[in-house]
Amino acid sequence: MKRFIIGIGGVTNGGKSTLSRNLHKVLPNSCIISQDSFFKDDSMVPTDSRGFKQYDTLDALQMDRMMSEISSWQQDPQNFMLSKAKSFISEGTRVFSLIVEGFLIFNYSPLNTLFDKRYFLQIPYEACKLRRSSRVYVPPDPIGYFDGHVWPMYLKNRREMEDTVRDIVFLDGTQKKEVLLTSVYKDIQQILQTIQK
Ligand SMILES: Nc1ncnc2c1ncn2[C@@H]1O[C@H](COP(=O)(O)OP(=O)(O)O)[C@@H](O)[C@H]1O
Ligand SMILES: [Mg+2]
Repeated sequence: MKRFIIGIGGVTNGGKSTLSRNLHKVLPNSCIISQDSFFKDDSMVPTDSRGFKQYDTLDALQMDRMMSEISSWQQDPQNFMLSKAKSFISEGTRVFSLIVEGFLIFNYSPLNTLFDKRYFLQIPYEACKLRRSSRVYVPPDPIGYFDGHVWPMYLKNRREMEDTVRDIVFLDGTQKKEVLLTSVYKDIQQILQTIQK
């Protein structure tokens, strides 16, 4: 059984979860693991002097738990898939794919080393601020949070990533969802064809 791990990173509201869900629908024997499911409890996340919760850092995440989830997929992708609702195994492919998506997946080196292919969705500041403002967060973003915490942390995390990680395919997240899906799907199909041989 062959395994293939795809990383879909990017800025908040860049379209990571959307692209991952769309890819999962067209990629047989695939699963998604989302970094957003591994945030620490609110009470464990420190607040800075302005009252901003420090969410946009690895310290706010239970990366050990996320790594063990990925490791259980690696041990038995088929069993992992079957444990998820609505999954069925396709006989047409011998490759099992895992889509790992999140805003800090390439900044955590034990995770980053697992990826066979890395994508990063970027959108400009204005588009990002607009998309973020139209989304409902729990807890809600306090006034000034985007400019005071989210965007500066994005720039910092991104700089760190670019200093340490090679082989990232940058995607323009303002493209249509279908266009993004098609280009990533084609790219992955080509790689999978060579793996399957
Ligand atoms: N390619 C796209 N073009 C326009 N809007 C998009 C696109 N992809 C996602 N969105 C919208 O942007 C918002 C954030 O998308 P989401 O996939 O949840 O981003 P992320 O997981 O990166 O935070 C959602 O409202 C979603 O419908
Ligand atoms: Mg998301």
